[in-house]
Amino acid sequence: MPPRSNRRITLARRPDGIPGPDDFALREVPMPEPAEGQVLIENLYLSLDAAIRSWMKPDCSYFPPIALGEPVRSTTLGRVVASRHPDFKPGDHGVAYACGGWEDYSVVAGESLHRVEKRPGFPLHYHLSIFSAMGLTPYFGLLDIGQPKPGETALISAAAGAVGSIAGQIARIKGCRVVGIAGSDEKCRMLVEELGFDAAFNYKGKNTEQLSRDIAELCPRGVDIFFDNVGGEILDAALLNLAMFARVAFCGAIGDYTRSGPIPGPYHYWQILARCATVRGFLTLYYKDQFPAAIDEMEGWLKSGQLKFSEDISVGLESTIPSFAKLFTGENRGKLLVRLQQDRA
Ligand SMILES: NC(=O)c1ccc[n+]([C@@H]2O[C@H](COP(=O)([O-])OP(=O)(O)OC[C@H]3O[C@@H](n4cnc5c(N)ncnc54)[C@H](OP(=O)(O)O)[C@@H]3O)[C@@H](O)[C@H]2O)c1
Repeated sequence: MPPRSNRRITLARRPDGIPGPDDFALREVPMPEPAEGQVLIENLYLSLDAAIRSWMKPDCSYFPPIALGEPVRSTTLGRVVASRHPDFKPGDHGVAYACGGWEDYSVVAGESLHRVEKRPGFPLHYHLSIFSAMGLTPYFGLLDIGQPKPGETALISAAAGAVGSIAGQIARIKGCRVVGIAGSDEKCRMLVEELGFDAAFNYKGKNTEQLSRDIAELCPRGVDIFFDNVGGEILDAALLNLAMFARVAFCGAIGDYTRSGPIPGPYHYWQILARCATVRGFLTLYYKDQFPAAIDEMEGWLKSGQLKFSEDISVGLESTIPSFAKLFTGENRGKLLVRLQQDRA
């Protein structure tokens, strides 16, 4: 039996810059009841994703903005505790992609809950890290949009982050020369020495011209694939270094999420025409039908040691807000998760 009340973190006001404690409220509310077609899940883990910051803006472009006073929308891994949907029964596990919340329990539509089961040899919560957006986003972005070929050069921004570190390793697996961009010398060292990147450089304190020089030096034959997580000046510098027929996988723009007002640039947009390049945005959720096959392939790479990743897991709902801020200060060391309950699967 679930308890009679539910703890949740609601959006108290629209953040300016990096979200802090005053932007949220921790509330205790009556336990919600699932209506016909819905299920009640106990959230075991919350996935802290950069995109959540963009949903806090009033003009979020691809999902409705999170309303003030409402729980912060999030992807969560949950255990079903009550079901009014024919496909789920208590004890089942599922991932609520972008429809759970920063709360102990969530009510979600049964059709939006993606059933998951523990894969032998891997903990259940990998369905919120490497077998979820962290792994699937670079998998589809790099393979479907990047179309990597052996010997090509792949450039990755936010390369030491959850998504970027996997994008670079998949490009390596496919035989590319891989160059990473990250926010500290220590992260750059880790990319080369631990994850097998061919080179990496620190973007901090550099303008477009300096960034462009660094890219030109490390990618002398031009950039065939740019996997962009950041936007802004890094995107502009990459555009200046595209090889002919380059592919740009537009994965995210974390540099813009904490900005208010009009977003500047990209100023070197014209290079897309000059290099006959393809720029494609994508949302991982639209590949949902292909998730099982992608996870099978990534499982193989994990077992063979070709793919490495790390998780940055905090414990308890109260840890959510300080942990979330780490995405924008660069303090996270791997996929950010919050553990609310032990998974006993
Ligand atoms: N398209 C999709 O379906 C999809 C799905 C999931 C995620 N994404 C995108 O993937 C990207 C990475 O997200 P994530 O959740 O995996 O986070 P993450 O990469 O683990 O963490 C974010 C990293 O971004 C870097 N960063 C933060 N602010 C920056 C800035 N202003 N300029 C340059 N770098 C900055 C920081 O590293 P440094 O120390 O290197 O600065 C930070 O550690 C985001 O853009 C996100 O929106 C897209």
